[in-house]
Formats: sequence, structure tokens, C-alpha cells
Amino acid sequence: MIVAIDGPAAAGKGTLARRLAKHLGFDFLDTGSLYRGVGLQVLRQGGDPADPVAAKAAAETLDLALLADPDLRGEAAAKAASLVAAQPAVRAALLDFQRDFARKPPGNRGAVLDGRDVGTVVCPDAGVKLFVTASLEARARRRLAELQAAGRTAIWSAVLQDMQDRDARDSKRDVAPLKPAADAVVIDTTSLSPDQVFEAARAIVDAKR
Ligand code: C5P
Repeated sequence: MIVAIDGPAAAGKGTLARRLAKHLGFDFLDTGSLYRGVGLQVLRQGGDPADPVAAKAAAETLDLALLADPDLRGEAAAKAASLVAAQPAVRAALLDFQRDFARKPPGNRGAVLDGRDVGTVVCPDAGVKLFVTASLEARARRRLAELQAAGRTAIWSAVLQDMQDRDARDSKRDVAPLKPAADAVVIDTTSLSPDQVFEAARAIVDAKR
């Protein structure tokens, strides 16, 4: 069984996906970390993430050690990720890895993948599709709290603007734009606790099993 969880940044999909995978005994893939890895690799090589030649080369030679790098979670990697992610050659280079993981997860039981296009492009045949979203302000508030908790300097207006820019880039790009699959169940987490989100998702998964 494949569980596809898509949605915008800081909507709570990562927390939900990890918890659901643990609960179900499934393997989990954070597909955003692949795009962040590509973005970070370009930055480390002194390149421009918006440059299609540099971005394609990084996607085709992605150093998986970067996925454990502390800078992967920073705002520079997030911005670079959304710039490389808009490029078709980058998405094509990462597609097989994601599909192989979904179809043959290491533990052989099932897979939970979270991202932007899991239900629409990577796994259109997923048994469960969730689209996890929240208001822009709620998501920016959560991101600000996360950055502060990690000891990073964060300014509300900058976090809000970055989130708005990334939403626009992810939703308006030509290739695999962020949008709910026609058969996805939408969960709006704006006024839900993580436990409430988990219970809602668990009920949806149970109904499909
Ligand atoms: O989920 P996360 O914030 O780590 O994703 C970083 C960026 O990677 C997103 O803003 C998006 O541009 C890109 N991404 C994507 N498709 C995915 C996952 C992430 O385009 N499946």
C-alpha cells in the first residue's frame, strides 16, 4: 500500500507522514529532502539553483550524504529546492528513485511519501491520497517557531514573505505544480492539533485498508 501526502510548506504533512509510517509499520520518504539536497549541492558548488545546467547536473549526481546535512533544513536550502524543483530535468532525474521506493519499500510492507506531487505524478495509483494544508499565517507561524527553536535568527515578515514566494513558485510552475489530486482527501490543519490531524488521517487510511 502507498500513502501519498502532499501539501504546501509547514502544513504539518511531514509530522503526519512520519507518525503514520511508524503506526502502519511502513517506510517513509520525505521527497522534499531530495529537492533540498539538489538545491544545497548547487549552492555548495557555487552555482545558481535557477541555472538549468547546474541544477540538472546536481540532480543526476546527487550526493546522498547531503540529506543528513544540518543545512538541509535551512531557508537557503528551501529556496534553492523550490528553484531547482521548477525544472523538468531535475524532476525527471528524481522520479525513478521515488517510484522505486514507493513500489519496493525496504521493509516490504508499504510506503508513505510526502511532497508536492506524490499523488498527482509520482504515485497516481496510491491507495490513499491526502492533501494537508493550512492558512498562510498558520504555516508561517509554525515555521517561525521551528526556526527559533533551532536557534536560528528569524523575522516574522521575512518568514511570511519567503513562504508566500515558495507557495507561488510551487503552485504556478508548469511541471508538477502543487495541487490536490482529484481523488485526494483534503485536511486543513489550521486549527487542528497534531494528534487531531493524525486521528483524521488514520481514519481515512483504515477505511481504505
Ligand atoms: O517539503 P519541503 O519544504 O522540504 O520541500 C522543499 C521544496 O522542494 C518545495 O518547496 C518544492 O519546491 C520542492 N518539492 C517538490 N516536489 C516534491 C517535494 C518537494 O517540488 N515532491
